[in-house]
Amino acid sequence: MKYNFDEVIDRIGTNSSKWDYREKIFGTEDVLPLWVADMDFPCPPCVVEAIIKRAQHPIYGYPGKPREFYAAAVHWLKRRFGVDVQPEWMATVPGVVPGIHIAIEAFTNPGDKVVVQPPVYHPFFRAIRNRGRQIVENPLMEKDGRYYMDFADLREKIDERTRMLILCSPHNPVGRVWERDELLELADICMKNDIIIISDEIHSDLVYEKGKHIPLFSLSPEISNHCITFISVSKTFNLAGLFTSIAFTENPKILRELKMAIHKASMEDINLFGIEALIAAYNEGEDWLEELLLYLKGNAEYISNFLRERIPQVKMQVPEGTYLGWMDFRELGLRGEELKEFIIRKAKLGLNDGMMFGAQGEGFQRINFACSRKTLEEAMLRLEKAVKELKA
Ligand SMILES: Cc1ncc(COP(=O)(O)O)c(C=O)c1O
Repeated sequence: MKYNFDEVIDRIGTNSSKWDYREKIFGTEDVLPLWVADMDFPCPPCVVEAIIKRAQHPIYGYPGKPREFYAAAVHWLKRRFGVDVQPEWMATVPGVVPGIHIAIEAFTNPGDKVVVQPPVYHPFFRAIRNRGRQIVENPLMEKDGRYYMDFADLREKIDERTRMLILCSPHNPVGRVWERDELLELADICMKNDIIIISDEIHSDLVYEKGKHIPLFSLSPEISNHCITFISVSKTFNLAGLFTSIAFTENPKILRELKMAIHKASMEDINLFGIEALIAAYNEGEDWLEELLLYLKGNAEYISNFLRERIPQVKMQVPEGTYLGWMDFRELGLRGEELKEFIIRKAKLGLNDGMMFGAQGEGFQRINFACSRKTLEEAMLRLEKAVKELKA
């Protein structure tokens, strides 16, 4: 291993949302934080070098977006997924969530319906609600810990006000990497009903089986013309604080309208250091990512095995993608707030309560396992102790 993911790096005092704001988020400093989706690992050295190099020039005025920026993203997508994206299809946004807000504003009207597939990344709900649109829930179905889309339910719920579907691919929090047939059926339903698909592919690089993630747009020219894809270096290379993301679509009309809406919201500017970071990460960060994926998969397997052997009432499948584990606590019999309190007060863990991702998440907790193995070992011991005390 060229990179050392075992090293525990103290993030306290770095103004880290995950570590420095525990009191505010959990009501106590006393939790081991394994919640918000950033990693406790340093980003690739090539990124640090690029940022330091740029920082040494002491003028940090408004940046432009150089050709190398788009070229780096285009080549990355080609190398990782074998797909051809043109730089002309791309627009920039500071984050995927702001981009989704803008897309909702641009392609739906107040009162229109937007479909989500809960349990799902919670800011989707807020984006729809805050824009005065209606949320349509098309819940995923669970079978033996694996989740599937419910196409019959989707077909039933669509009406003439249904204008958009937000796809989470790979899916946060359930860790599914959607397969070709699933994506094709979903796209077919949406195209037949003239529903635009927002494909949030922020986790697409964090997939444990090579070649498993299929960018939605790549399935056919028709699908490509019916969707907007969001990608980012923020999850892949741990750069969320640099606020640099990309939206792309092959459809010139959709792109024009999206760019106009981004401009209207004054959201097209991205971070000076984010530009340097993206170029370095996409051009030189691939070996780092490959090692990271091995480490993360080892972490997921560690949790899953620990639970099976020592806390069998709690279950977690190794996700197919993302560094987020969806832990099933339903056998403990704690409902809603009870489980949340148990995790914070008794296990002393800072996780994401399952209910954040929709009512379907009751009895679940999301764990972010992008940390050193040592931190996870501590987390599992805390959980084991708390569960034993609960039963005593
Ligand atoms: C599915 C998904 N979309 C978007 C984001 C956040 O994107 P950004 O920070 O670029 O707004 C996250 C972060 O966890 C996520 O899981």
